[in-house]
Amino acid sequence: MKAFYITTPIFYPNANLHMGHAYSTTIADIIARYHRIKGEEVYFLTGADENTEKVVLAAKLIGKTTTEYLDEIVSNFKNLFKKLNISYDQFIRTSDQKQHWSGAQELWNRIATVGDLEKRIYKGLYCIGHEAFITEKDLVDGKCPDHNEKPQILEEENWFFKLSKYGNVIKEKIESGELEILDNGRKTEILAFLERGLEDISFSRSVDKVSVGIPIPDDLTQKMYVWCDALSNYITALGFGTSDTNLYNKFWPANVHIIGKDILRFHALIWPAMLLSADLPLPKILLVHGFITSGGRKMSKSLGNVIDPNELINIYGAESVRYYLARHISSFEDSDLTHETFKEHYNANLANGLGNLTSRILKMSVSNSIKIEIKDKKSFQADSSLEKYDIKSYCDEIWKEIAELDKSIQKDEPFKTIKTDKKKGEDQIKILLESLFEIACKLEPIMPETSRTIQTLILENKMPEKPLFVRKE
Ligand code: MSP
Repeated sequence: MKAFYITTPIFYPNANLHMGHAYSTTIADIIARYHRIKGEEVYFLTGADENTEKVVLAAKLIGKTTTEYLDEIVSNFKNLFKKLNISYDQFIRTSDQKQHWSGAQELWNRIATVGDLEKRIYKGLYCIGHEAFITEKDLVDGKCPDHNEKPQILEEENWFFKLSKYGNVIKEKIESGELEILDNGRKTEILAFLERGLEDISFSRSVDKVSVGIPIPDDLTQKMYVWCDALSNYITALGFGTSDTNLYNKFWPANVHIIGKDILRFHALIWPAMLLSADLPLPKILLVHGFITSGGRKMSKSLGNVIDPNELINIYGAESVRYYLARHISSFEDSDLTHETFKEHYNANLANGLGNLTSRILKMSVSNSIKIEIKDKKSFQADSSLEKYDIKSYCDEIWKEIAELDKSIQKDEPFKTIKTDKKKGEDQIKILLESLFEIACKLEPIMPETSRTIQTLILENKMPEKPLFVRKE
């Protein structure tokens, strides 16, 4: 069986997840489900990036211990993923010493062994929001514009990773497609960045300055830089550096890392360089999505413009949220999301489009006792847009078919035909049922519950007890 390994970023648990985070996870779930349907052995990883000062600060602010706080937020993450029907195989927590730390330290040791880590004095501005150094010219009014926070001034002795050594090899791997970056715009962006040359990067923090983090092997004065720690989750989750490496042997290298555009450089430069240094294979694809914006700005807690996925789920149901993310948020560009546009698309495409079509067809088949049998579901499921990770186009194609079926009902009026020409009317309704069944199969990765409901209703020839999607005023 072909193995397929897909990952989401691991999320910072310094606040609850918003629609932007739900997007990364939902599209990963759609792709994971698609590959399972194709008969592949899928491993789907998600998790939380916990060894960060952000979390310590957030816990302090509400008077909780870091552990209490983390457990609570992580349980909120998991509840949301459950509601959204996210079919992950593992949720990794980087504070989990047993699962994560020995692998992260093993990777560190491999990088150190080849001489790619070196102690140097560093001075610079550090933004906790980004968990990265930033430069004076990035600041607006002395603050990081993305997080609206003043950076810390850091001067300390750190371990440096010789990232600069790997620029040319990474460039070759990206140009040749060995490390594929989707879409092309992001590939061009990273190649242009590589053209300017890479600088070595601080890979540890002094224990005096940070309270959480993985200890550096053989150096009690330092903890691992949170991105070095976080990126290694993709292999530690598979047991790298432990006594059980079965999953690692089966699933590494990853087929695809799903990431947002703000973390492209970490994944396209630092992560491949770490793997090259440790002599490990590179992931195959980085799928880089844009931002969900709200009022034209990135949806983010620090900007105070977040939409809580739970709120939309409570009003419209989780399947509608999955639908919206899949179809109305572009896989590659930024897309704006407001409560108004959500309602508009829900009413037009779910209550009216899919919901209405299902009731119309089933009404005809139930009242005339017309049943169909489906022998081979498989042929309905093959499609190429999802193969190319173009989820939006995949959905557009499905909704085009929905519109065509609607039109054919209007044109042929089988509900009238059946009264005058029984055989002809029955044949028309059977074709409608088969087409609707095909649509339901195609919907399986996007809206698994709705897909199952429609398939069952058709096979049992039943009307839904209540509308699939109630219109919202
Ligand atoms: N912890 C790091 C990732 C480490 S992966 C080894 C991190 N966490 S995050 O919680 O800040 O972001 C996680 C993901 O959510 C990123 O891919 C980011 O791009 C995505 N999003 C956060 N806000 C977003 C939007 N408004 N829109 C779409 N995705 C965005 O970065």
